[in-house]
Formats: sequence, C-alpha cells, structure tokens
Amino acid sequence: MPPPAPEPLLSVDGLRVSFPRAAHADVEAVRGIGFEVSAGEVFALVGESGAGKSLTARALLGMAPRAAAVSGRVLLRGAPVTPADLGRRLARIPQDALSALSPVHRVEDQLALAVRSVQGLGRREARAAARRALADTGLAPEAATAYPHALSGGMRQRAVIALALVNGPDLVVADEPTTALDPERQEHVLTLLRERCAVAGAALLLVSHDLEAVRRHADRVAVLYAGRIVELGPAARVLEHPVAPYTRALLASLPTAGLPRRSRLPVLAGAPPVPGATDEGCAFAPRCPCATALCRREDPGPRTVDGRRVACHHPLGEAA
Ligand SMILES: Nc1ncnc2c1ncn2[C@@H]1O[C@H](COP(=O)(O)OP(=O)(O)OP(=O)(O)O)[C@@H](O)[C@H]1O
Ligand code: SF4
Ligand SMILES: [Mg+2]
Repeated sequence: MPPPAPEPLLSVDGLRVSFPRAAHADVEAVRGIGFEVSAGEVFALVGESGAGKSLTARALLGMAPRAAAVSGRVLLRGAPVTPADLGRRLARIPQDALSALSPVHRVEDQLALAVRSVQGLGRREARAAARRALADTGLAPEAATAYPHALSGGMRQRAVIALALVNGPDLVVADEPTTALDPERQEHVLTLLRERCAVAGAALLLVSHDLEAVRRHADRVAVLYAGRIVELGPAARVLEHPVAPYTRALLASLPTAGLPRRSRLPVLAGAPPVPGATDEGCAFAPRCPCATALCRREDPGPRTVDGRRVACHHPLGEAA
C-alpha cells in the first residue's frame, strides 16, 4: 500500500463569501472555492479584476470585510485558522507597504516589537532578530533605522517582507505585492519574496495580475472566474497549455511582450458577470467561444484533465 499522502499545509474547502443585499438574495462573490497548499510551495491565484482573488485571500486570513458572510473550511496544518494566527503561523504582505508599517516607529523597532510580542524574546535578542531579518532582505542598516516614509517603495516592500517573515510563519499571503512598484523593481521584489520564503520554509500564496510573473515564480496556479476556480494545476503547464477556455482567453488577452509589465493587465472582450447574476449554467458562457446549450444550462463540476482540475464541459483538446 502506498504511504498516506502528507497533510497539506493549507486546506481550503467550500469557501464562500457573500454580501447581503436588501430585499434580494445575497450576492455571492466567492462561490465554493477549494484548494490545498503544500509546505514551502508557491501557489498563485490569478484572474480578471473582480474574480474574487482578494476576497479569497482575505477570507482565509480571517480578514473578510465586516459586511461579508464567510462559510467553508480553512485549515492550517489541520487546525482552523484563528485571529491569533495572524503574524504567527500566517503572515500578510499587502499591496501598499505603507499600510503594513506604523508611520511613527522606525522600521527596525517595529520588527523588534513584533518579535518580542510573538516570541517573547528580550529586547536585545529581539533587536538582533529584527536586524538579521532586515539584512536578509538586503536593506542597509541606515534604512533599517529610518522611518517608513523616508524609504523608497522598493525599500519599504523589503521591510514588509522582513516583517512578514521575522516570526517564522508557515504561510505568507501576498496580494499583488508589487503593483505599487515600478516595473523594474517588481521582478526584484518578487524574486526576493520567493527566495526569502523558501529559505524560511514558508509557503507563499500569491495573488497576481501578472501571468508571466506567476509562470516564472509559482509552482501551481488556480485561475478564478466569477468566484470559482476554473483551472488549477502546475503553473507552467496551465499558463503555457491551458485547457479551460477561460484561461486561454485570459492569456490571449495579454498584449504581446515588449510592453511595460504594468500595462499587461488582462482585459477580455465582454464584461465579467455581475456577482449574484450567475445562477444557471457556466458563468463564462456569455463570453466563451466554445459554449454549447449544455454550458448555458448546467454549471460544470470539476474534473481532471491532463494533470489539472478543470471546471468546464468542453475542456480544450478533449474530444467533443
Ligand atoms: N466590501 C464589499 N462589499 C460588496 N462587494 C464586494 C466587497 N468587496 C469585494 N466585493 C465584490 O466581490 C467581488 C470580488 O472582489 P475581489 O476584491 O476579491 O476581486 P479581485 O479578484 O481581487 O479583483 P482585483 O484584481 O481588481 O483586485 C467584486 O465583484 C467586488 O465588487
Ligand atoms: S463550460 Fe462551456 S461555456 Fe463554460 S468555459 Fe467550458 S466550454 Fe466555455
Ligand atoms: Mg484584488
């Protein structure tokens, strides 16, 4: 008998996020998402604006908007995630580094404080740990002892990476961590983030618009459309040979190489569905060149095609 599969680091099952609407049915923005992340893995969430990437990331961090109703199961190493896990087992890297840093404390002091409160170390040891973490991201000592507003965007993002990793989390959740940076710095910071997570043994859940960066940096990717995962598998295979028509359309919507990366946001013909308006059939049917009557009638369930999970009645490359 084969040995039992190791328990996943993160297990998300049937995750739903909805917003109550007066006198109408709730608007479901995340509609039953499930995936697993292994220890040390880089797992990416991609999809058009409004697909539900950030809500998924926020819900699993326990940071969904107050108005949202969240259901489903999120387990980290087999145990439910609690608010106390944030900054300990779970760390977050936001889009805007300034929002993660206190404006009134020097960067090094903030890290030392985080170390003291989580690990209970004394002042001297905590400061040494903070200095090490900041130096590991390549931040010069004079930048480490500066206030956040005195740093460039790239330096701030390094400080935020150090802050996220200083207490040895199991999982780092980064939602568009480089979009505030200029294109040249984006690749540096993403490479640094991936490397530091690997050294620290932390898995990375990366939300990104940049499919090319995801192809380079992620082990696996989940492609979201209208609050559902439509394709999930190895990043290189999914983004080079997609089997879901939506993934193909997303890739085809990218302007060709040579343009600045910031302008390479996917834009597809037709509008994504309004959340809550996708009750019958496949949500992508109105925009899908492969749609049939079956697609308009029945929501496709997940199936395995060519080593990935796909939610589509007519995966590409499969006989009709
Ligand atoms: N606080 C909220 N109240 C009502 N609807 C919300 C709220 N937050 C998000 N939504 C809706 O949920 C859907 C998914 O939002 P989400 O922020 O997860 O998208 P996203 O995939 O991260 O998009 P982007 O790429 O633009 O960041 C959107 O239609 C959005 O309008
Ligand atoms: S189920 Fe049908 S409409 Fe939906 S993506 Fe597949 S082929 Fe297109
Ligand atoms: Mg978002």
